[in-house]
Amino acid sequence: MSQQIRRVAVIGAGTMGHGIAEVSALAGYEVVMVDVSQDILNKALERIKWSLDKLAERGTISKERVGEVMGRIKTSLSIAEAVRDADLMIEAVPEKLDLKKQVFAEADKYAPPHAILATNTSSLPITEIASATKRPDKVVGIHFFNPPVLMPLVEVIKGAQTSDETARRSYEFVKSLGKEPIMVNKDVPGFVVNRILIALNSAACLLVANNQYSVVEIDSAVKYRAGLPMGIFELQDFTGIDVGYLVGLAVAERDPMLRVPCPLLEDLYKKGWLGQKSGRGFYEYKGGPYERANIPREAGEKVDLTLIFAPAINMAAWLLRNGIASKEDIEKGVKLGLGWPKGVFEYADEFGIDKVVEALNQLYSRFGYELFKPDPLLTQMVQEGRLGRKSGRGFYEYGAAGTVEFKEIILRKEPPLAWIILNRPQRLNALTLTMLEELSRALDMLWDDKDVRVVIIRGAGDRAFSAGADVTSFTGPLHTYYFFLYNRKFQEAVSKIERFPKPVIAAINGYALGGGLEIALACDFRIATDTSELGQPEINLGIIPGAGGTQRLARIVGLGRAKELIMLGDRIKADEAYRIGLVNRVVPKERFEEEVRSFAMRLAQGPPIALTYAKYALNFGTQVPVDIGLLLEAAFFSMAVNTKDAQEGVMAFLTRRRPEFKGE
Ligand code: COA
Repeated sequence: MSQQIRRVAVIGAGTMGHGIAEVSALAGYEVVMVDVSQDILNKALERIKWSLDKLAERGTISKERVGEVMGRIKTSLSIAEAVRDADLMIEAVPEKLDLKKQVFAEADKYAPPHAILATNTSSLPITEIASATKRPDKVVGIHFFNPPVLMPLVEVIKGAQTSDETARRSYEFVKSLGKEPIMVNKDVPGFVVNRILIALNSAACLLVANNQYSVVEIDSAVKYRAGLPMGIFELQDFTGIDVGYLVGLAVAERDPMLRVPCPLLEDLYKKGWLGQKSGRGFYEYKGGPYERANIPREAGEKVDLTLIFAPAINMAAWLLRNGIASKEDIEKGVKLGLGWPKGVFEYADEFGIDKVVEALNQLYSRFGYELFKPDPLLTQMVQEGRLGRKSGRGFYEYGAAGTVEFKEIILRKEPPLAWIILNRPQRLNALTLTMLEELSRALDMLWDDKDVRVVIIRGAGDRAFSAGADVTSFTGPLHTYYFFLYNRKFQEAVSKIERFPKPVIAAINGYALGGGLEIALACDFRIATDTSELGQPEINLGIIPGAGGTQRLARIVGLGRAKELIMLGDRIKADEAYRIGLVNRVVPKERFEEEVRSFAMRLAQGPPIALTYAKYALNFGTQVPVDIGLLLEAAFFSMAVNTKDAQEGVMAFLTRRRPEFKGE
């Protein structure tokens, strides 16, 4: 509990109000909830009781605590009475400025002088609300997300006259609730999280309205490629088209930067298609309001994600440059408030700041909205060469210190990822013994490196992953035994990938032939560009695959296909490779890095220990009789259950947040 605050008055017992009362009482505060009728108050108490019972059912709190927490919540029909000995008031009445001002004027009159008066508004100016009181220094925004009991994020917003002391005490209060506060230093419309959300929605909507993409394509892309928890349009259906439309109008009126009208939204609003709750919005919900939108995984492949995210990044840059919130708080805001797997600046660094600026210029010249004008912070970064990950520096530092140059490979560490680059581009990355030894050494270096969770192997340049063993070493009359030793060494390096305790991805950009394909076969996943060609052409040289091709290829594509590939020696195109299950994904060449990285990042967020066990159970458990395979599975299963990560996974599931796995 916060030291100076003991009693909290919550004005308004609706969706937000009752939730705020609940989390406050849960944290030990004495709460009085106020509304205009006893009926509403009784309903609010019922909802709180229901929610607490749910928490008890899930084991988040004990059964005894339900009664104890309920005992701390009183109700009243009078603001004057409720605030009389309150240390903090939180107002959560409907979003009408006059109404809020009335509440504040009355609370100001009856609350003790030290009391903080907070508003949970999401769209109205705090400074203006504060003007209804004689204590604007003690008026602050405390903006919870819906539902307060489950959403960890709370924005604390300073109005023009809010004192540092008030802001600090409010921040401490939020922390005492077990929530994660972020500090918004200036009362800008939409604060941090909704500003970024509005910006994210803007380009998506315009591009659909102009027939560049469809709703499903964009939603699929942001969900499956960028990893957002819901599609952009899916989320709007979920929160309600009316809510989005009306909030949009309200904030646009206050801020030209937020004037990005969405013609689609207006159309739906006028038709009364208000989203999930009315069975129809951007999507149709024939199976009732709880049906999920149908968004196929492959639908978003051609969407340019940089174009979709650029306005949100621009907004974030604007917030940062104007000192409205810190970089850390903005990142926390999108992660906890919107459930993004990464911060908005992390996305920016991955897309490349130059690409983001390019996308913004494109949007600006097409649509002319102020939001699309590249922020000076971004253009300055481009001028300074701070382009993001690819230049080692963007909003974050990546550092060349992570790069180790061997003779024929490069190892680049970009935690949580590491890239091993086969580096003989002029020879299409043909494999030599030196290269294989170096590959093996690089894997050893990464074996127990806690910073690295996923390894990606790719070829240098844009023509080949690897065109196979360097055939020049096959010429001349050499002893069989020498070849046997050479071959075993080759096999050993390749097998190390299979035994490597972390996921390994083969990122195939061009030819993956012979030994090159055999390296890729030992990896856990293969992602290929659409122009790639794969094959085991050894038979054409009068030899056969020697680094596991006869074994692993057959296991992946089946004996029949493997025989065709090995005994005819033909090269196949990426599409065909996808069709027979040889590659997991085919991606457009120009989005190669982005796609590989986003796939890898999804793995990197997984529980490292369980991923190792899963990999081993799959790789080795399938090579022995099924009884022994199952035994192996049982052993790994019981080991996984006993990790801290498993506890974290279950906890996160129960409290509906994204788990953070530490590999413990
Ligand atoms: N070993 C050694 N050098 C190789 C090589 C290999 N496996 N694959 C390609 N190269 C070299 C080529 O000799 C050429 O070198 P050069 O510029 O000094 O002449 C360079 O890489 C570029 O290859 P090139 O053949 O000119 O390119 P291309 O686009 O015409 O053809 C391939 C590309 C992959 C179809 C063709 O190079 C090929 O068939 N390579 C052999 C693949 C093979 O049989 N691998 C199995 C080996 S066990």
